[in-house]
Amino acid sequence: LARGPQPADLAGRHVVISAGGTREPLDPVRYLGNRSSGKQGYALARTAVARGARVTLIAANTALPDPAGADLRTAGTAEQLREAVLKAAADADAVVMAAAVADFRPAVYATGKIKKQEGADPAPLALVRNPDILAELSAARPRPGQVVVGFAAETDDVLANGRAKLVRKGCDLLVVNEVGEHRAFGSEENEAVILGADGSETAVPYGPKEALADRIWDLVVTRLA
Ligand code: CTP
Ligand code: CA
Repeated sequence: LARGPQPADLAGRHVVISAGGTREPLDPVRYLGNRSSGKQGYALARTAVARGARVTLIAANTALPDPAGADLRTAGTAEQLREAVLKAAADADAVVMAAAVADFRPAVYATGKIKKQEGADPAPLALVRNPDILAELSAARPRPGQVVVGFAAETDDVLANGRAKLVRKGCDLLVVNEVGEHRAFGSEENEAVILGADGSETAVPYGPKEALADRIWDLVVTRLA
């Protein structure tokens, strides 16, 4: 794919990106997880580096090559991701929450492997809520003027759900994409609408995750200026 040289419009900026999907352990061998590959977050990291930013990439359970030029940190669970994101966000100009964060975690972690009982049904799985990192960050804004970007994967009523979510989260931009069996997760391409807290709507046609990443940075740059 031919792309022109990228503008260095993120030079001198620190951007924090979360990528991948959290895993919430049940016991030493099992977890609750999701299908996020981390590819969109890594594309955001690569494009931000290309545009001159200092990039902190916080990766949750990805299996992708390290993006050159980014400061890579890892987190396993939602709580670990929260710690890492809040720490890195302290001096960030922009934070992009591309990670798929588990909404719930098992209420109890079994330190030994859970065994099945002969002839008995399993006990129901008790879950508790995880902290909402994006909402917390949007409310706190550790640095004045910081731009906060969220993602929303929706299967139904994509735009209406996206608008409501943008308001609920309090972020500046929300990248909404439709997901389903064969869409977005794990693929190299993506299609999205980027909703702005100012009412703007930017449709990004189906294409490489880098192209979507660059459109997101364009909108972030406008808001930083
Ligand atoms: N997110 C987060 N912390 C959570 C859950 C989600 O920071 N505990 C972030 C995600 O990284 C994403 C955005 O919030 O940027 C939206 O995630 P999504 O799962 O679509 O939103 P939820 O509010 O969890 O709504 P839903 O009930 O549809 O899952
Ligand atoms: Ca969720």
